[in-house]
Amino acid sequence: MTKRPKVLVARRVPAAVIDKLSRHFELDTVPGDTVLTPDELRARLQGKAGAYITGTVRITGELLDACPELRVISTMSVGYNHIDLPACTARRVLVTNTPDVLTETTADFGFALLMATARRMSEGERLLRDGRWESWSWDFLAGADVHGTTLGILGMGRIGQAIARRGHSGFGMKVIYHNRSRLPAETESQLAARYLSKDELLREADHLILVLPYSAASHHCIGAAEIALMKPTATLVNIARGGIVDEDALAAALREHRIAAAGLDVFEGEPRVNPALLPLPNVVLTPHIASATMPTRLAMADLAADNLVAALTGATPPTPLNPEILPLQ
Ligand code: 8YV
Repeated sequence: MTKRPKVLVARRVPAAVIDKLSRHFELDTVPGDTVLTPDELRARLQGKAGAYITGTVRITGELLDACPELRVISTMSVGYNHIDLPACTARRVLVTNTPDVLTETTADFGFALLMATARRMSEGERLLRDGRWESWSWDFLAGADVHGTTLGILGMGRIGQAIARRGHSGFGMKVIYHNRSRLPAETESQLAARYLSKDELLREADHLILVLPYSAASHHCIGAAEIALMKPTATLVNIARGGIVDEDALAAALREHRIAAAGLDVFEGEPRVNPALLPLPNVVLTPHIASATMPTRLAMADLAADNLVAALTGATPPTPLNPEILPLQ
């Protein structure tokens, strides 16, 4: 029998993924659900042809140099800022991710977070649970409307477009957006979305949602200067990556009511949360769960497995990030 390629599964995954992978590979799995340290990861990757990872596992050029047999990295995430993609491509290591299968679920969550933020739901629940709900007043927990307002979307990829559809068709919102590249006119008219410069978007949005990928270019692209352009009644929602927002600047703006509220699912140093955010009543905080429904997580896990199997058995993987290096030798 020919030797089967060795694969590291770096986090706990659904049993069906282990079944699928073990039909093709010799598997090394991590006990429990520990996040390996960089040293442990390097040691565990020795002799491995493939790695099944998630957004919690960092892949650097230095790590690749220490693991010369590694040929495929499959991440169970659409975002890939935890992977140095140019370093992988330069070393002819194929990288795959899991787009599409999480688009609608993540858009649902973005919209839920927007509504929870605008309608002060977490603030109300905290108050109720703490026994601080005393009576009715005309302005008790009065928030902002969502329907009929202007929805600003920064980053108009697949998830941004799914949020635009919800805003326009479901809530009668006026949709405005900014993106690195403008959408084709036909897509804009299908979405009823108007392209604006980033500054115009910040000025006009009643609710601004961030859905752009994280990179050196988008690092802290929402900071004090950008927040200063927003309406004092505006809300800001981030379901992209924590590093896109300067959290200290945001906390100061929320404290001083320079914007009304924020909803954050992602944080710069996750799972640590900037302590300046924690005492603020006008921020809804969730622990990076935008794609977390059981059907979607299973679909992501399965697509990541299919990518790894295809790439290491000579087939074309469904969703490669650097297909220019295919076919693998
Ligand atoms: C994941 C995400 O929960 O897919 C992404 O990019 O941010 C989330 O869906 C996470 O990255 C798990 O790998």
